[in-house]
Amino acid sequence: MKLAVIGTGYVGLVAGVCFAEVGNEVLCVDVDEEKLARLRNGEVPIYEPGLDHLFARNLRENRLCFTNDLKQAVAHAEIIFLALPTPPAPDGSADLSFILGAAEEIGKLLEKYTVIVTKSTVPVGTADKVRDAILKNARCEFDVAAILSFCARARRSKISSSRSV
Ligand SMILES: NC(=O)c1ccc[n+]([C@@H]2O[C@H](COP(=O)([O-])OP(=O)(O)OC[C@H]3O[C@@H](n4cnc5c(N)ncnc54)[C@H](O)[C@@H]3O)[C@@H](O)[C@H]2O)c1
Repeated sequence: MKLAVIGTGYVGLVAGVCFAEVGNEVLCVDVDEEKLARLRNGEVPIYEPGLDHLFARNLRENRLCFTNDLKQAVAHAEIIFLALPTPPAPDGSADLSFILGAAEEIGKLLEKYTVIVTKSTVPVGTADKVRDAILKNARCEFDVAAILSFCARARRSKISSSRSV
């Protein structure tokens, strides 16, 4: 499948590499030009056991690419994963501005049915906010899903989804 991962940090890069390793064509998006340059150069900017080996193979075999162009990523992807930061806001809640800002931009760019998945750590109910942010501008069908966790402890995780438009 053609996938995009928005936010190429610890979570987004590991997810993107693993998606590519199982055969998907993955376009990773970030706003950090320096990080993108290092990644395109074959440099893994984080430490995760075994990641460098998988990263190198999938970069070499063209299943893993990097861009700062959200429009290109939205055009490419059947599924878009949001792996953006959710830092604590002053009141202790999760700051969803990165997620909702990206969702609003994605809504403007959607031209075909796409599934948008939150991979970041977010409170219950965020999928509805993501859907509403996309809906502000969307002109085609989409679904929003939330992955609560990908890690080994996630055997009890559930995936929720809500059809929109
Ligand atoms: N790091 C962990 O171990 C871990 C574990 C579980 C959950 N999480 C959650 O996953 C989410 C991401 O965490 P992380 O550690 O990967 O963050 P990170 O800071 O390592 O990476 C976030 C990336 O998003 C990029 N970014 C910011 N704004 C952007 C935009 N508008 N478009 C594209 N890219 C943008 C940043 O440049 C950065 O590279 C957070 O919700 C975090 O709480 C992290």
